[in-house]
Amino acid sequence: MQIHTTIESLRAARAKAGKVALVPTMGNLHDGHITLMRQAGSHADSVIASIFVNRLQFGPAEDFDKYPRTLAQDCEKLEAAGVAHLFAPDETVMYPQPQRYHVDPAPAQTSILDGEFRPGHFRGVATVVLKLLNIVQPDVALFGKKDYQQLMVLSNMVREFALPVEVLPGETVRAEDGLALSSRNGYLSAQERAEAPRLYHLLSTICQAVRGGDHDFLKLETDAMDELARHGWVPDYITVRRRADLQPPVHADDPLVVLAAARLGRTRLIDNLEI
Ligand code: PAJ
Repeated sequence: MQIHTTIESLRAARAKAGKVALVPTMGNLHDGHITLMRQAGSHADSVIASIFVNRLQFGPAEDFDKYPRTLAQDCEKLEAAGVAHLFAPDETVMYPQPQRYHVDPAPAQTSILDGEFRPGHFRGVATVVLKLLNIVQPDVALFGKKDYQQLMVLSNMVREFALPVEVLPGETVRAEDGLALSSRNGYLSAQERAEAPRLYHLLSTICQAVRGGDHDFLKLETDAMDELARHGWVPDYITVRRRADLQPPVHADDPLVVLAAARLGRTRLIDNLEI
């Protein structure tokens, strides 16, 4: 695997790489990321991964400084997954001066769910991903459903700016006990790690109830939030939404997804399940 830290070096390699699939990440790679890399390999001649902890998408009180940076281990995993190129710029390459142009997704997308609890987050995500897409110019880009709202915001950005790239979603990869893999799981104490799968189990319970014909979403959501609170969580939301735009369901046949975000100790976890 070749490691590129400059735009020039990455671009020169990209020009010779044939059909390219890009998998953007912030590093500290786990099986969720690696599964995306392998999926990417089946859609292109070469996979390019990026690792960049993007300051723009972190709020002032969030974990930018303590976000885990594990480049050496990440490189081994990428190499084993057959990734051809890694773009690992530092901030002087991505933001040589404070970024003065941003992608601002409409409030309908960013005032809800994670956007409500992380003001400016999706603006930071969309801005860095547009920049990465412009730098790499991939044919295909892959994003995980684990970050369901992010996938929606980025798919809409690509469509509305007519960017010449195909967005492909990856399924959420979970630990055996159901917990969605996340770089932030490493913040959990042993006790919190044992408690953490409750989030997935509550999503599964709601999913099964709705599939079984229970459409009292408000009660399902409130019961789940209460159960989390009883077990020491501070939930931000658990809510059944339309898959298409993450707004509250209107028609009985709307395809649905149930999404949740909650804090366990100092760690904020998110997860979702398509119903
Ligand atoms: P990061 O959290 O590192 O995730 C990189 C990609 O891996 C995202 O598309 C994310 O949805 C996917 N992913 C994370 N956990 C996963 C899991 N358990 N199963 C499947 N896919 C999973 O998301 C970001 O970085 C950043 O916001 C980024 C898009 C790179 C922009 O900075």
